[in-house]
Amino acid sequence: MCLLLVGVLPVGADTTSFTDREIAAFLAQGPWPQTPLADPGNEYSGNPLAETLGKALFNSTLLSGDETLSCASCHVEHLGFAEPKPVAIGVATHVRNTQGLLDVGLQRWFGWDGGADSLWSATLRPMLSEVEMAADIDVVARRLQTVPQFMSAVAELSGLQKAVINERRAADNDPPTENERLVVIAAKFLGAYMRTLASPRTPFDDYRDAVFNDDTEAQKHYPAAAKRGLKLFLGEANCQLCHFGPRFSNGEFHDTGRPFFTGVGEVDPGRYAGIQRLRADRYNLLGPYNGTHAEHETRKTRTVKLGQANFGQWRTPSLRNLTRTAPYMHDGSIATLRGVVDAYADIDPDRLHNDGEALLQPLDLTDNQRNDLVEFLRTLSR
Ligand code: HEC
Ligand code: HEC
Repeated sequence: MCLLLVGVLPVGADTTSFTDREIAAFLAQGPWPQTPLADPGNEYSGNPLAETLGKALFNSTLLSGDETLSCASCHVEHLGFAEPKPVAIGVATHVRNTQGLLDVGLQRWFGWDGGADSLWSATLRPMLSEVEMAADIDVVARRLQTVPQFMSAVAELSGLQKAVINERRAADNDPPTENERLVVIAAKFLGAYMRTLASPRTPFDDYRDAVFNDDTEAQKHYPAAAKRGLKLFLGEANCQLCHFGPRFSNGEFHDTGRPFFTGVGEVDPGRYAGIQRLRADRYNLLGPYNGTHAEHETRKTRTVKLGQANFGQWRTPSLRNLTRTAPYMHDGSIATLRGVVDAYADIDPDRLHNDGEALLQPLDLTDNQRNDLVEFLRTLSR
């Protein structure tokens, strides 16, 4: 493109205006930042010492079977704690894309399939998974015992908080062991740390606040293309239906028609398997290691139902930090934001396996409109 023409011709002139309903809708996408929730069942959540040790553990290879991998091997800080590989590669090759961890403290369910109900249990899964870190509880516990800073923090904090094991729930066939307790504490420290990972304010947040404060001067900084994209996001393209709220996620699970075959005859059933995994998980909020005994925190785990419609559903991801977390979708199958927008616009309704309401329909969007949506999405990152 000839750069000299920019400024001469009214390229992308800003003619977008919003109705009161649209303004109300996008004000609800903020304010930012938000205060994270406490990690449910985690008696160390919010404790600064636990957060500091959690950060050290995150970067340590102590937690993997052969001491070659840390959490940071896959969750890379400058990439929003995600990584550029389509699917994660740990001890073996995973079928899913590494999730970014910024703002993870605002979620209710963890994992693409919602297979974990707390940050600390979502931590034990990669540690113990044969595919990811393939660690053994007794081996990791013995290693942790040789780290003086960790052991002294455990002594200090467990003295303060005695409720590590729920004795009532522990009276099952497979009672907790001292080693397991130590590894769970490490996972809870990691949960405390991850809860603090917050993403920065973005150009969208500045625009949203400028509209909220009626500051017309500050509103001018927001690009015209992003404004057009925002209007589509709220209206014609109806993205806000699921990508709702300050995190741009309703926190719920939906089918967006992605292919679910992961190999010949192999499928990844998404939420359907996630609920089964959650129920079978010894470290769920109904298990012996729930350290806070807050009944309201366990309600979701007690009441979640499994149904045929859960097949092929994935948790709606946040749309913040996308410029750092490519590739996209649970299987990392889409490399670019334009690719994601095209996948929605050109969706094949026959691909959607859900029996309920048809939330997604093909969208009649021009090439320019698709680029506008991408420009809008880019303003949700810094
Ligand atoms: C081999 C790469 C790999 C390693 C190592 C790894 N993770 Fe992950 N992580 C993933 C993948 C892949 C997912 C998505 C898993 C899923 O949906 O089942 C994920 C998901 C998560 C989630 C859920 C995020 C969300 O938005 O719901 C958390 C929390 C997490 N990891 C924390 C950790 C911690 C803590 C460690 C270290 C103990 C760790 N991970 C080690 C690849 C990895
Ligand atoms: C019916 C609910 C729903 C609607 C409507 C919806 N999305 Fe999504 N979105 C999801 C779910 C669920 C995923 C994850 C799918 C997967 O992992 O396979 C997703 C994934 C994404 C991703 C990838 C994020 C990442 O981190 O991998 C982007 C970008 C995205 N959506 C943007 C949009 C845009 C733009 C629109 C409007 C055109 C839209 N979405 C409409 C539910 C929805």
